[in-house]
Amino acid sequence: MQVVKRILVLSFLPLSLLPAVSQGQHDEGGRWKSGEQLYQKVCGHCHAAGVGPSLTGRGLPDTYIKVFVRNGFNAMPAFPATAVDDASISLIAEYLASLPPAPEPTPTRNAQ
Ligand code: HEC
Repeated sequence: MQVVKRILVLSFLPLSLLPAVSQGQHDEGGRWKSGEQLYQKVCGHCHAAGVGPSLTGRGLPDTYIKVFVRNGFNAMPAFPATAVDDASISLIAEYLASLPPAPEPTPTRNAQ
């Protein structure tokens, strides 16, 4: 199921991301107003949706996040500095560290 979900999300995601990345969510240099905005407009579409691993409350260092953002990794797309600049990567690292860690997933026990 996870794989199917990934394929479904990935098949439409690049189309829905492009307008957000190219039209005024950030200024020309790829600088975002806040880590929260960047997370909600870009990263969260995968990382808060179970497509990518949860990033919150893990204290991931800027440099670690930067490696993934700049180079991509498997299904993780690469983002050039014109879309997400270095300062914005620091902002998102700070924002992610400020959030509580995601609860353990309980995919087979939805009723509570
Ligand atoms: C299209 C979906 C998608 C988007 C958008 C996306 N990611 Fe990812 N990301 C992934 C997937 C999938 C992985 C897991 C790759 C793997 O391990 O095979 C990943 C992995 C990562 C990792 C490594 C996590 C770990 O547990 O080691 C970091 C850090 C990360 N992404 C940061 C970001 C940031 C920051 C953004 C926003 C600028 C972002 N990602 C946007 C899909 C996405």
